[in-house]
Amino acid sequence: MRVLRLQLRQFRNYWQLDFAPAAGPNIFLGANAQGKSNLLEALVLLSTARSHRTSADHNLIHTSALDDPLPYAYLAANLEGGPHRQVDLVITARRENSAITTQRAARLDGKRCRLLDVLGALPTVLFTPEDLSLLTGPPALRRRYLDLLLCQVSPAYSRALATYNKALLHRNSLLRLLKQRRGDREQLHFYDKLLAEHGATLVAHRAGAVAEMSPAATKLHAQMAAGDELSLSYMPALPSWDGRANPQLLEATLLGSLQSLWAQDIERGSTSLGPHRDDLRLQLNGQPATAFASRGQLRTAALSLRLTEAWYMEGKLGREPVLLLDDVMSELDQSRRLALEEILRQKEQSFLTALEESVFSPGFLASAALYAICAGELKPYLRRGAAVPEPPRDEGNAPA
Ligand SMILES: Nc1ncnc2c1ncn2[C@@H]1O[C@H](COP(=O)(O)OP(=O)(O)OP(=O)(O)O)[C@@H](O)[C@H]1O
Ligand SMILES: [Mg+2]
Repeated sequence: MRVLRLQLRQFRNYWQLDFAPAAGPNIFLGANAQGKSNLLEALVLLSTARSHRTSADHNLIHTSALDDPLPYAYLAANLEGGPHRQVDLVITARRENSAITTQRAARLDGKRCRLLDVLGALPTVLFTPEDLSLLTGPPALRRRYLDLLLCQVSPAYSRALATYNKALLHRNSLLRLLKQRRGDREQLHFYDKLLAEHGATLVAHRAGAVAEMSPAATKLHAQMAAGDELSLSYMPALPSWDGRANPQLLEATLLGSLQSLWAQDIERGSTSLGPHRDDLRLQLNGQPATAFASRGQLRTAALSLRLTEAWYMEGKLGREPVLLLDDVMSELDQSRRLALEEILRQKEQSFLTALEESVFSPGFLASAALYAICAGELKPYLRRGAAVPEPPRDEGNAPA
């Protein structure tokens, strides 16, 4: 899968950008606050229809455009190797009194589509230094990891997740009403059924995915950290589970468990059991990853999780996701950098940001397309010590 052309208008600090990324590694170099992460964020938006950095969409529109009568940001990517040739997204903002409301609209091949339909058109995997929290942070971050991955490969999963989350919100507000002796207790049946049906889909997909991913994670991790064994296991929030991902059985188990916990859930005012409480267990050499591992080991494990995500997506979609690495190299030691470069060399397309070229090996730099980013503008990057190119030759039609 490849992005052939990327266009941005009034997005973050890019007033206007139109460029054709190369196949293979594309490296973006620049000082702090120049727009490196913004560029990767644009690709994430085109991939998932939402930003990984903010839920306040007006922040995505260039601040100088916010006073326009109809402020907007426009993002578009021309694609090769997938079912669609173009995906684009428009974010518009409207000021009402002092509040700003925003809207996102997406199109595939020029035709308006739902935001959900964008998922899968441009599969991406994003690597950031914050990935460390996949290991050290709360279970919600690991669920998000699985959700984002599965939403990109399975429309059935993303539909089930949207319905499940909505039903969960409704069930929780009903529980809070019931706690205050208001509301109709019988309505819990309706939400339990929805949660059990769609929750079973989520559990079945997650269990299947983790079972496939664990051996791949072990293998990929060993390529970067010989001697360390990484393993993943799925920990569903179900009272009993025999490890089988049979949706009918799971639905019956979930329904029974939800109903058996009515009294407790009303008391808590929230739903105590179900896939919204799952976890993904990560172990290094048979121990919980956070218990003994050094920071460097955890960083490498986080990197392995992202590479595993890419491997899994490729298997399911039959095409490689585009890899986005935001300032990841500087966190790794020399041998891990080289191992990662070796992996990236084999990939169809990747986008990497860094402050300086020195984090890459000369061989990798030579194989990549290099760009300098300065205040939201992209220029070809001249390597240190490279000869300054000759100015274009006058073809003789300049005024005398
Ligand atoms: N809506 C916006 N309009 C204009 N500028 C914006 C907007 N949102 C963010 N910026 C600017 O973009 C810049 C940050 O860009 P970005 O996060 O891409 O930096 P970076 O190059 O990745 O830097 P670092 O190396 O520190 O990570 C900041 O200067 C910020 O003020
Ligand atoms: Mg950045």
